[in-house]
Amino acid sequence: MADKLIIFDTTLRDGEQSPGASMTKEEKIRIAKQLERLRVDVIEAGFAAASPGDFEAIKAIAGVIKDSTVCSLSRANDRDIARAAEALESAARKRIHTFIATSPLHMEKKLRMTPDQVFEQAKLAVRFARKFTDDVEFSTEDGSRSEIDFMCRVIEAVIAEGATTINIPDTVGYGVPELYGNMIKTLRERIPNSDKAVWSVHCHNDLGMAVANSLAGVMIGGVRQVECTINGLGERAGNTALEEIVMAVKTRKDYFKLDVGIDTSQIVPASKLVSQITGFAVQPNKAVVGANAFAHASGIHQDGVLKARDTYEIMRAEDVGWTANKIVLGKLSGRNAFKQRLEELGIELESETEVNAAFARFKELADRKADIFDEDIIALVSDEQHSHDNECYRFVSLSQHSETGERPTAQVVFTMEGKELSCTGEGNGPVDATVNAIESQTKSGAELMLFSVNAITTGTQSQGEVTMRLSKAGRIVNGVGADPDIVVASAKAYLSALNKLQSKVDKLNPQL
Ligand code: KIV
Ligand code: ZN
Repeated sequence: MADKLIIFDTTLRDGEQSPGASMTKEEKIRIAKQLERLRVDVIEAGFAAASPGDFEAIKAIAGVIKDSTVCSLSRANDRDIARAAEALESAARKRIHTFIATSPLHMEKKLRMTPDQVFEQAKLAVRFARKFTDDVEFSTEDGSRSEIDFMCRVIEAVIAEGATTINIPDTVGYGVPELYGNMIKTLRERIPNSDKAVWSVHCHNDLGMAVANSLAGVMIGGVRQVECTINGLGERAGNTALEEIVMAVKTRKDYFKLDVGIDTSQIVPASKLVSQITGFAVQPNKAVVGANAFAHASGIHQDGVLKARDTYEIMRAEDVGWTANKIVLGKLSGRNAFKQRLEELGIELESETEVNAAFARFKELADRKADIFDEDIIALVSDEQHSHDNECYRFVSLSQHSETGERPTAQVVFTMEGKELSCTGEGNGPVDATVNAIESQTKSGAELMLFSVNAITTGTQSQGEVTMRLSKAGRIVNGVGADPDIVVASAKAYLSALNKLQSKVDKLNPQL
């Protein structure tokens, strides 16, 4: 029987560290449930000590996830570890993941600690974490730039203290596959008790080699856990992409000779969900989950490729969850049909009031758009959740005028803390006029860093999904809005980003 490769997903922790990708508790629960449907082995649900919000999200995820192990990150100190343990208390399976930097640069400049102090702290952290669970992971942050002798000393000691997984991060994406793989091989060979732990890789994609480095860790280094995120989401150039690791190992089983427990048909739904919630669009030519990744991805006109499918396709689109856009509901669909479809899509709204609100929005949409697809429902629910959270501003209506040769104008009506406001603006185009109108009232002064429009389904009937990324006083947030009218979608996205800027989240970055 082939060995199993453990898939550790850190979308909700390292993925969320990506500026603008912050998620609410409800959004994290939705993603965690999708990760469980995907059958990932470990879900790193967050960093419990980061903020009360992170703590609550981990706690809620620990309460609902039954099959996957739920994990919290913690720095190597008692307070963080106790907080992680508390958040994970109700988890069916729990893991505490503690880490400390081991590279000379990080120890001296960031931690201002001597190697001996780091060694002691690592041991104490694992010893303390083991009081709460038998499943303790230890990471040597900036491992790929650490000295091998020092790593051997630290890792041998933490395994002796009871660490059950040893993770060697390539924190800054500096690794090169052969060197990184060999480094892990050497560590495993030199550390006498190395066979007492599962070895793991965690790579960043700064040089575009996160997946290659992770796979070198597997093949050369012999690791049996890969840490990764959906769509490769993560700080800077992101983390190792889960979908690429899983499909590489499955498609080339002849070479890797490993099993993965993932239900690959859930990959595309997971990718879409993460993209819709975070507002991080997936590039069309992205492997596995990009819209162009399969020649026949949209609609899957199978007849065209039936002749000799494998001449050009090494994977089947449907095996990773690409489905033809299916009309699922319409104007005449009732509340029960809507609720049932939500359930089939794995969307659980918390209360009947939320179902009613979502159904009202569905009816509004069905009045303007003949056919409703699954993607529309997912966008609608995401939109609904965005607008509930920290709802200072809420879109009401918009009218805009644009004509060749004339400067476009827009009138936007929205509520600010429940009070209805109407404002007008003009600009280079209708979206610019809309944003200027909103700014004339809100005066946020935020800088627009990204504006992107994406068609949710195919055809000109499709809803447009707009992402607006705003930056202010060092904070970066993404707002997402969807509507068949892309100017309305833009207004919603802008207001949603302003709402996020309003919310005061003081959140610690575990690595700073
Ligand atoms: O990149 C990194 O080093 C990390 C660790 C905290 C595991 O994310
Ligand atoms: Zn990382």
